[in-house]
Amino acid sequence: MSRTEAEFTRPPQLPATHFVDNHVYYDEGVFAEEKEKILSKTWRFVLHESEIPEVYDYRTASVADTPLVVARGKDGKIRSFVNSCSHRGAAVLRRPAGNLRAWRCMYHLWTYDPTTGECTSRPRPEAFDAVGLRQEACGLREVRTELIYGLVFVNLDENCMPLEEYIGDSLFLQREMIDTVEMEVIDFFELNLKCNWKNWMETNMDLYHEFMHVANRKTSLQIPEYYTRNWHTFPNGHFTVDRYSVEYNKYPGWEDREDSLALPGMKEDEFQITDVFPDITFLTRGTVVRIDNQIPLSPTETLVQYRALGIKGESEEDRMRRIRDYHSIWGLFGRNLPEDCLGVKLQGDAIYGGQVPYTYWCREENNLSQDDIAARTWWKEWSRLMGRDQSQPFEPESTVAAE
Ligand code: FES
Ligand SMILES: [Fe+2]
Repeated sequence: MSRTEAEFTRPPQLPATHFVDNHVYYDEGVFAEEKEKILSKTWRFVLHESEIPEVYDYRTASVADTPLVVARGKDGKIRSFVNSCSHRGAAVLRRPAGNLRAWRCMYHLWTYDPTTGECTSRPRPEAFDAVGLRQEACGLREVRTELIYGLVFVNLDENCMPLEEYIGDSLFLQREMIDTVEMEVIDFFELNLKCNWKNWMETNMDLYHEFMHVANRKTSLQIPEYYTRNWHTFPNGHFTVDRYSVEYNKYPGWEDREDSLALPGMKEDEFQITDVFPDITFLTRGTVVRIDNQIPLSPTETLVQYRALGIKGESEEDRMRRIRDYHSIWGLFGRNLPEDCLGVKLQGDAIYGGQVPYTYWCREENNLSQDDIAARTWWKEWSRLMGRDQSQPFEPESTVAAE
């Protein structure tokens, strides 16, 4: 039976934890508040250490609208600084990546040390003597930067908890595969998606959208273990789902993956997902790890970065095979990724204008793979940090915030 407008727009008769008011996906005020309370207060993945392997290598990044440079200093340590000149704010590093022994702002030529961030020279410095602006007081702002398993994270909040404490046990299914042999980024691309960043994140919390994927229908959805995997949830909004083995040879034109290319602790055909709050997903398909992270640009526009990790130092033949494994399903023209992109676009087209008021996260299957427990765990943390209940974000008395 169809619903009238009144029936359609009233809150669903569900527990408050089991649905989302769709305003949170497109409201400008909510987006601004997310940047302040979530995106600049949580640990955010910026790169894998293999992307800046040499002393003085750097890459630029963006976290909650703050431009950053992540660099390996002359002591080999990785640090991050705000990529904005202390004089009048110009970006100091203008290329996305490079190797420089000194960073010179092109506007008025103030220069900085890539290891310490200190200001090392200013043209005609005596002009600052009259007001006592010493060179030592003109360093770049350093940002907290910590590593786990070669993954580099930053946090704009200096008072945040240590990264290891934040991650907790949530990467227990990743640790062996990415921390027992040397890994490196073997593929990188980014897509500007016309979707809210949370909608992209949700594509990796919901495992029943996989009925959409032709490849999954052929290779996975007929396997009983696909449905009996468990979600595991962790403090700070993270979660992971157990592995299962994919039958790649069931998809026309595909063959089973090479077992010699399996990552440590994985079988070559196993698939596994872990999400780290707020915006990072680790997806592993036996021979290759994919890492998604996000740069939200507006409520309805997000730059998603996709990295593939493989084993460093392998033969060219193995590397090509590993990259082929990755691209066949997750590349720009892979089997699954374009379908996920289309899914979030169709969703955004319909909800960002306010046409559809609520999103349901109400499946309950004893925490098995198609239960919505992962999304509810994520949204609970969102609500806690925002001080707003995701089902009633504009209510003054938020039940979740009051917990
Ligand atoms: S803004 Fe960088 S030197 Fe002036
Ligand atoms: Fe998908």
